[in-house]
Amino acid sequence: MIEYIGNKYFHLKNSKVSYIFYLMPNQQLGHLYYGKALDHLSESDLDYLAKYENKAAGTVKFSEEDSAFTLSDRPQEYPVYGTSDFRSGAVEMFDGETPLYLDFKYHAHYESKGKERVLSKPATYAEANESETLTIVLTESEHDLKLELNYTIFEESTVIAKNQRITNTGKTAKKITKMLSGHYELPSADYDFLHLSGAWLKERQITRHNLAQGTVSISSLKGASGHQHNPFIALQHKQGTIDTGEVFAMNLIYSGNFLGQAEVDEWDNTRLMLGIHPDQFSWTLKPDETFETPECILGYSDKGLNGLAGEYASFIERHIIDRKWQGQNRPIVINNWEATYFDFDQEKLLKLAQISKDIGIECFVVDDGWFSNRDSDRSSLGDWYCDTKKFPDGLKSFADKIHQMDLQLGIWFEPEMVSPDSKLYQQHPEWVVRHLHKRIAIGRGQYVLDFANPEVVDNIYQQMKKVIEETNLDYIKWDMNRNITEAYSTYLEQNGLNQTEFFHRYILGVYELYTKILTEFPNVLIEGCAGGGGRYDLGILYYSPQIWPSDDSDAVERLKIQSGTLLAYPLSSFSNHVSVVPNHQVGRMTSMKMRQDVAMFGPLGYELDLDQLTESEKKEISERILFYKQHRALLTFGTFRQLIELDDRNNEYCWSVYDGATGEAMVGFYRILAEPNPSVKDYIKLPFVSETEVYQVNNETVSGQVLKQVGIRKPYQFNGANHDRAQVKGDFQSYIYHIKSIKQ
Ligand code: DGJ
Repeated sequence: MIEYIGNKYFHLKNSKVSYIFYLMPNQQLGHLYYGKALDHLSESDLDYLAKYENKAAGTVKFSEEDSAFTLSDRPQEYPVYGTSDFRSGAVEMFDGETPLYLDFKYHAHYESKGKERVLSKPATYAEANESETLTIVLTESEHDLKLELNYTIFEESTVIAKNQRITNTGKTAKKITKMLSGHYELPSADYDFLHLSGAWLKERQITRHNLAQGTVSISSLKGASGHQHNPFIALQHKQGTIDTGEVFAMNLIYSGNFLGQAEVDEWDNTRLMLGIHPDQFSWTLKPDETFETPECILGYSDKGLNGLAGEYASFIERHIIDRKWQGQNRPIVINNWEATYFDFDQEKLLKLAQISKDIGIECFVVDDGWFSNRDSDRSSLGDWYCDTKKFPDGLKSFADKIHQMDLQLGIWFEPEMVSPDSKLYQQHPEWVVRHLHKRIAIGRGQYVLDFANPEVVDNIYQQMKKVIEETNLDYIKWDMNRNITEAYSTYLEQNGLNQTEFFHRYILGVYELYTKILTEFPNVLIEGCAGGGGRYDLGILYYSPQIWPSDDSDAVERLKIQSGTLLAYPLSSFSNHVSVVPNHQVGRMTSMKMRQDVAMFGPLGYELDLDQLTESEKKEISERILFYKQHRALLTFGTFRQLIELDDRNNEYCWSVYDGATGEAMVGFYRILAEPNPSVKDYIKLPFVSETEVYQVNNETVSGQVLKQVGIRKPYQFNGANHDRAQVKGDFQSYIYHIKSIKQ
């Protein structure tokens, strides 16, 4: 997969994609190509590609020795600002207060096969026959630095994973003030910048910016990837659609502060970058020390947004999510949060559990409120032991009863937080993230624990371990409900470490707790969560194969949230709960059918008081659960595709999952508001079917060529007269098509 041509060109290639870079005349690395695979490239092809006429007349030159060479408009691999290139660079360092204008020159390169999965370090992993990594070693002789750029190419994927390591080979300490992970350049600005933005209850909505000269950026400085922006960015060709056109993207395997940006220069070159946010960050590199950036996965497709989503989904399933959960069915859960909030005891929960069991649910998750004196969201975090008012017989007895019902048990934790009234805080006020001054911000009545301090991480681990062992726990919901303010760590101060390292060390501490838990309890399924989807990223997915995507469980809002999430993450990576109506977040009434039709795409759950439902509603749920169990693998691991173009004003969505091996598909059609005399098309094409096969579409038989060229017929809309035949009537409607190939 890796070719080294003519002592100057590096070509990473598989059947789908090529990534090419080369040694520029100044021995730095220049970028040449990322896109559809280029076969049989000759050296003269590469010379042709590398010929470069500067667009920049009369600009600053890189060095006095070569009066023609400038970096000002050159596509590069890991650029440095201020070295005849005035664009934002990927790496910046200082020696004390003196900026170093780094000149990293090629020194050597080596290759390795496969990538081990190292639990403490979220990154891609692969078997020896699945990936090859090319490491380019560059040196900065004037400032005694060694830079290693790692590029990994995988079989059958357009993804290229990148990360970097920098080592101080000198005798004095230096300071890194910026070191990004993902970087690449395109010689055009004919793209839209796409990202996933939002807020609490409306996370990951697809947002578009028209690229033009200047910089557009997204970021987080909250200590978590955040509800507002996601560390995923993409460039979609302006003429592109869900199924056509080139898309280039990046996604960071990291859960903390990040910056993603697209910069268009005066010649319409576009530079895309993603990595740890340089604000509030610097890292001291003492002699012989190394700093390593989180990995970034570059993604490419020439088949539009669906193509990119498919590339990322299959890659993340195979090379980021734990092998243990690959293709593994997730349990159907009942979560008591919206059913009871804090108002519960063991009797109430056991009753809910029994009804859940009777209708086919598989896992009972006790959410917030089971510990210490937690009767509201203003107390007790940090004291992770049973509330004996709610569980007079203790947690073990409760857990045993749940297990005796043949249900799995899940328990909610918020490991990184502490309440001012907790015993933990009384004993260790210095374990809180807080600066030295009087005023301190508080969120949801709680402080953030200093996870940069290993002693804090270990204390929380010991407390959790006890609960996991006592309850023989199957499932953890790991929540995180406030962001970091006044970042300051007593531990760093006492250990002579820089406070500007806090945010990164905090996230490493979070990963350390995950590592401890999963080392000791590898079978526990951890669901990530952060006040809904406030930390939905590949760093968390490395440990938690699924994440609670949003606290908004309304079916209509979920159409947008799940559609946005699916642009960058697999179907199996988010859990969907059917909740009560009127919906608790928006007050909307939707049918049980619509709620279940939306929630069944991905891991399914329920979050409502089943005891309050009518017998016919319970029957409707149990029938759906039966159906879901029969098709769970398809609905969780099938290839997902949007069938209707996505824009800000979608009134209709059409989701599909398809299994190429069996020819089976499930298609969900959703219409938000009813329209009179609609002018919309009557058919939706199915691009995934085979033209030579015949399919059963619910109760009808249709050829693959008709489904592909014409499509499935949309459900009949109510038109004021067709009372008996209308299949969708009124607002908030859905219709499911089950499609099976009939072998002739
Ligand atoms: C926020 C989560 O997103 C909810 O699902 C619930 O667990 C609450 N926290 C509990 O405090």
